[in-house]
Amino acid sequence: MVDKPSGRETWGTRIGVILAVTGSAVGLGNFLRFPGLAAKYDGGAFMVPYFLAFLLLGLPIAWVEWSMGRYGGSRGFNSSPGIYRVIWPSKPAPYFGVLSMIVPVMIYMYYVYVEAWCLAYATRYLFGLWENNATSEAYERFFSAFVGKNAHGAAFAQAAENLLTSSVFFLVVCFVVNFTLIYRGLTRGIEWFCKWAMPALLICALLVLLRVLTLGTPDPAKPDQNVLNGLGYMWNPSTEHASFWQSLANPEMWLEAAGQIFFSLSVGFGIIVTYASYLRKNDDIALSSVTAAAGNEFCEVALGGMITVPAAYVFLGKPFLQSLRDNPVSTFGLGFVTLPNVFNQMIFGQIVGFLFFFLLFLAALTSSLSMLQPAIALLEEGLGLARKASVALLGFITAVGASFVVYFSEGLTALETLDFWVGTLALYLLAAFEVVLFGWVLGVERGFEELSRGAEITIPKIFKFVIKYISPVYLLLVFAAWCYKEFYANPTQLQMLRTKPVALACVVFIVIVGVFFALLIAQSVRRWRKLEEQQLKRLQAG
Ligand code: ALA
Repeated sequence: MVDKPSGRETWGTRIGVILAVTGSAVGLGNFLRFPGLAAKYDGGAFMVPYFLAFLLLGLPIAWVEWSMGRYGGSRGFNSSPGIYRVIWPSKPAPYFGVLSMIVPVMIYMYYVYVEAWCLAYATRYLFGLWENNATSEAYERFFSAFVGKNAHGAAFAQAAENLLTSSVFFLVVCFVVNFTLIYRGLTRGIEWFCKWAMPALLICALLVLLRVLTLGTPDPAKPDQNVLNGLGYMWNPSTEHASFWQSLANPEMWLEAAGQIFFSLSVGFGIIVTYASYLRKNDDIALSSVTAAAGNEFCEVALGGMITVPAAYVFLGKPFLQSLRDNPVSTFGLGFVTLPNVFNQMIFGQIVGFLFFFLLFLAALTSSLSMLQPAIALLEEGLGLARKASVALLGFITAVGASFVVYFSEGLTALETLDFWVGTLALYLLAAFEVVLFGWVLGVERGFEELSRGAEITIPKIFKFVIKYISPVYLLLVFAAWCYKEFYANPTQLQMLRTKPVALACVVFIVIVGVFFALLIAQSVRRWRKLEEQQLKRLQAG
């Protein structure tokens, strides 16, 4: 801690920070979103745009975030508005921090609700509360009733009837766990928790994978429904209905692959910037960032990609998965409706069901925790609030937001609207700002000097060119195509704004939270200026 102002928090150990960043990345995206997308876009073919997006967007922007974070941290800032201001000393710079506040905080508001479903499902498996031999319709009915999908306010009504089995109860438990860990601080909360949760998650995932890979052909009457064909369904590059090249020609697949890379690596969230700011000036970031990204990819491709879809193939068959391709279910449909039906038919299904949903819960928790830290950093260093006050204020804001999501649950409207405007659109905007800030304002040479200081591996120089030119252009192309699709060719979300008042209310809510953070940033900037003036006077006097 020699090179930071005293009193500033830093990570306790190197493995701690790597596990915390990996924990932030590994989440619902790895085990629910990725398998759904890979199955929808013919597995093998999907991996081409997926790995290109990883190499040209995900990894370079992760380096951008790690470097800018440590750069700002060694100059005394942990919040992204403060860090942006250090890198680009100008009036507008800190206000781009509005994006890096609303992205993690508002994603948290719905992410934590899904985390609560994972905990609830794990608990039901642990206590054997699922009906034996339930039909797939029964699982669907359960899920809809549990999350309140049938009517607005249904989840709260259910809680009033039977609190302990309601989604609201599990949500409260998740809130308490998240905020207790955040309150304990960086090393005693986040780092301590990730150090045991990440290995635990890995063990659970390997056990579930072992069970899936040893499924063989459970029903001799259906010899085609075996695990090898399930893996082939997931990973073969060409399928019956499209060749490899035909699949690659689908522009939507390229968009979704890039979106998945951002969501999965937690890049463009403003999280890594804050996490990296707690490093010491000469700590390695090059190898740590690659290790965290590789850990995420292992969990996503090798674990997430080999569990859900092959298991569903073995028990529910190819026609079922093909019907999903034609009428894509939501990410949650695959996880919370299809999988219980799969585990129900599996030997040791109860244990596997528990392990799977418990690992999902741990993965979600290490991610949701990381979504709180950026705002905590701003409240503490911007407003000068103590830990208790900052945790209480953020707890209040996120509780209001999560209640909004839970109340407006009909068709999961609020959740899906927030996921669209914040979890997709705002991610692109923030990532674009950060890559330009690094490549063009800080300057790619200075940026790479930062990335290379204390580095235990050498990042190939070609990535200077990639970060300065390729990543912004790639991002711009993906974003333009995404806008064309979402706002012109198939403007579902825009139509929802016209037809569903709840969707419009969500957008108004996002704007209100954005204005709130803009005011906080304005206040922080005033405070920082005052502190800087005082410091200058002291220096002049001394
Ligand atoms: N990166 C986190 C996930 O994949 C948000 O779920």
